[in-house]
Amino acid sequence: MSKVFVTRKIPDAGLDLLKDKYEVEVFSSTTNPTKEQLITKAQDADALVPLLSDEIDEEVINKCINLKIIANYAVGYDNIDLKAAKENNVFVSNTPGSLTETTADMTWTLLMAAARRVVESDKYVRDLKYDGWGPELLLGQKVYGKTIGIIGFGRIGKAVAKRAAGFNMKILYNKRTPLSDQKEKELKASYTELTDLLKRSDFVTINAALNESTYHLIDKKELEMMKSNAVLVNTGRGPIINEKVLAQALEDKEIFAAGLDVYEKEPEIYPKLLKLDNVVLTPHTGSATVDARNKMAEMVAANVIAVLSGNKPLNQVV
Ligand code: GLV
Ligand code: GLV
Repeated sequence: MSKVFVTRKIPDAGLDLLKDKYEVEVFSSTTNPTKEQLITKAQDADALVPLLSDEIDEEVINKCINLKIIANYAVGYDNIDLKAAKENNVFVSNTPGSLTETTADMTWTLLMAAARRVVESDKYVRDLKYDGWGPELLLGQKVYGKTIGIIGFGRIGKAVAKRAAGFNMKILYNKRTPLSDQKEKELKASYTELTDLLKRSDFVTINAALNESTYHLIDKKELEMMKSNAVLVNTGRGPIINEKVLAQALEDKEIFAAGLDVYEKEPEIYPKLLKLDNVVLTPHTGSATVDARNKMAEMVAANVIAVLSGNKPLNQVV
């Protein structure tokens, strides 16, 4: 019987499909296995199902000699050494499309919460500071009719744009290859160089994948280009923003606010961010809806089953 190692309990919607066919071991912890544990558990497995927080590097791949597929429980796959996987004839799959709308919802949740100071307001009420209506109490930024700049315009970026159209916003986007005129018209979005996008947008959202070209894409120079009323949202990957520089910009009120779901060194958070009122922080829960997490589990199982039945994965990365 083929063996599958899953590094954390994932929803039964997918786990049961695997248990029907294979010997499945689920790492019973609420933290990631250490590299040593990972290798010990996966070295005779035919399939490995890691989380985005498990680093699957060359050593792990080399030592797990039976491995035929690494089915990442995520859309992003920056945690896996793709080159090493390819060299060892190990397939890698992800779960594209499973979390598009859920993550776009989260992008908007953070955008609105940061613009209207929702978390700060909640704290204000709970601290019993609300002692009467005030004309200038907790003023935020208007969203309707403003300009949004979307960095990374894949499935999630486009889903963010569709929501922005409902708010009658001017929609700018930046990605490596611009869309066709037809597609731009459909989405009411205009391709814009990064510099221009940063200068013109009232809201900037990051919906890109992490790779060499997006590492610290938003650094000191880029933050300085942004408007003082701007709100920056990141539901992509933490290292796309220089977190230390962002914390300083927020403290100095160089931009109005930020909403962050991802961090440079998860689960660590840059300490200064924790002290600021003008940033809303969530623990990488962009895809955390029952719907999305079940769908991800089902897709992971379908990819493992495809490969262990002698086929290519349905969502092949390499
Ligand atoms: C979440 O961040 C994912 O890539 O699935
Ligand atoms: C989401 O599914 C994406 O890849 O953008």
